[in-house]
Amino acid sequence: MSYKSGRHFLQIPGPTNVPDRVLHAMSYPTIDHRGPDFKALGAEVLEGIRPVFGTTNPVIIFPSSGTGAWEAALVNTLSPGDRVLMFETGHFATLWRNMAQRLGFDPELVDSDWRHGVDPAAIEKRLVADTGHQIKAVAVVHNETSTGVTSRIAQIREAIDRANHPALLLVDTISSLGSIRYEHDAWGVDVTVAGSQKGLMLPPGLGFNAVSDKALAAARDAAQPRSYWDWEEMMGPNESGFFPYTPATNLLYGLREAINMLNEEGLDNVFARHDRHAEATRRAVRAWGFDIVCENPEEYSSALTAVLVPDDVDPDALRRLILEDFDMSLGAGLSKLAGRAFRIGHLGDFNDLTLAGTLSGVEMGLQRAGVAYQPGGVQAALDYLAAPEAARAQSRAAR
Ligand SMILES: Cc1ncc(COP(=O)(O)O)c(C=O)c1O
Repeated sequence: MSYKSGRHFLQIPGPTNVPDRVLHAMSYPTIDHRGPDFKALGAEVLEGIRPVFGTTNPVIIFPSSGTGAWEAALVNTLSPGDRVLMFETGHFATLWRNMAQRLGFDPELVDSDWRHGVDPAAIEKRLVADTGHQIKAVAVVHNETSTGVTSRIAQIREAIDRANHPALLLVDTISSLGSIRYEHDAWGVDVTVAGSQKGLMLPPGLGFNAVSDKALAAARDAAQPRSYWDWEEMMGPNESGFFPYTPATNLLYGLREAINMLNEEGLDNVFARHDRHAEATRRAVRAWGFDIVCENPEEYSSALTAVLVPDDVDPDALRRLILEDFDMSLGAGLSKLAGRAFRIGHLGDFNDLTLAGTLSGVEMGLQRAGVAYQPGGVQAALDYLAAPEAARAQSRAAR
């Protein structure tokens, strides 16, 4: 392998590019996790992460990938055989269903076409029919990373309330937290699941559960055997900044820095930045003449864009060429979308010029691969990014 000059573009929809500030923060020496310095670090991140979820309640941090945090959400709130209502938004919703099945719960998956988010009306209808309250939880993915579709969680909450159903609401925000507006408390979510490697701009390795009072009460009755994932085991030591087992100390240094960065920019600005880059990306994709997987503009993801390619285009060959020739990684189409789509990640530590470089890499790749496309996608994105905000708003309204 020869040396590749310049910086690799990691434009998969997570893990994302880890900023230098976070890398430096993680390079401090590892400290005694039972000592006073760790106590201060633990207390700071456990408190500081709450507003990122939009909660004043505890957030539990596991040394795990997002999949571990999925498991924690299920095993702390449910009992063996409990029915869970899930919605097939795409690959990740399906994997979470498979996990629920393997753990001995009874998941019921509402079908969908992988081009839309969770349908609140379908949830309401199913819950209204469940007069015996067999369904103990509704578990949905906020931002479906395989399709670039963002579900409307507040409307799902309203649907559950309209059905007057006591089910818990569990939400996966693994690819939305810190990128797309999210309000754990205001939207009445009971467990929010997240991971470190996307909007939080950290390497993989931390899993999160934000928990409501109702979820904590459910955990007291939940009979599912659990040990490593047990919230109670965690929350006792967490009260004084400690963990019940060896924590991922250096990732927590990184988390402290990432929280500082999100606060310096301001969460509203972080979300607006992601919205703007997503809109510019969609303009590029349309100008190239391709379709976006997400069909409902109200559900466009601000974290990634999944692009459908014509039948005669091999998106994986295109991605390989872009990696080899331009040193940029793009996301593959997953399961049902394999061979039909590729995904552009535009989340995390990202600015106008990173987007310009990303889209340039795609457009050069299309040209070099001999794909039939309309040139001008990059220009369409640049025109949008360069326009003053008032003009951008006008052009969005005119669409
Ligand atoms: C929406 C979503 N859920 C769950 C996962 C699984 O998380 P992990 O790979 O960190 O275990 C991912 C990973 O990309 C994801 O995007």
